[in-house]
Amino acid sequence: MSIVQLVLNQKEIIKIMKNTIIALATAGFITFGASAQAGDAAAGKTTFATCVGCHGANAEGGVGPKLAGQSSADIVSKLNDYKAGKQRGPMTSMMAPMAAGLSDADIANIAAYTASL
Ligand code: HEC
Repeated sequence: MSIVQLVLNQKEIIKIMKNTIIALATAGFITFGASAQAGDAAAGKTTFATCVGCHGANAEGGVGPKLAGQSSADIVSKLNDYKAGKQRGPMTSMMAPMAAGLSDADIANIAAYTASL
């Protein structure tokens, strides 16, 4: 193997390493975006249309408690409790079926929406 070939091979190796780092960084970024569960408030507002009858058009409360202004973490945890069938307040049986049909993404989106009010 000549010196020229060696130098070329080293350049090739550096190029492959650079591409690998870029690929890993890109993959890492995509994974971060998907696992962040930040919640999309606009999508949450759409899903919340089925909740306004009891919680009010602006989540100000009605038959059900006021949700506006609660932290998104609280809303996520309460909805997961209802979804899991846990008894919360005296009217849990009214609320549990509403939470049962929500996906994790729905819950994250609704929480982002009500926390923004
Ligand atoms: C039929 C009326 C009704 C509908 C529709 C309804 N809820 Fe409720 N919700 C209630 C009642 C009543 C409670 C209190 C239940 C209890 O005593 O635990 C409640 C409680 C909650 C709580 C807990 C609030 C707290 O601070 O303790 C959250 C969060 C919630 N609802 C979210 C939603 C979402 C999101 C939807 C729409 C997918 C929805 N609700 C639809 C009646 C309703």
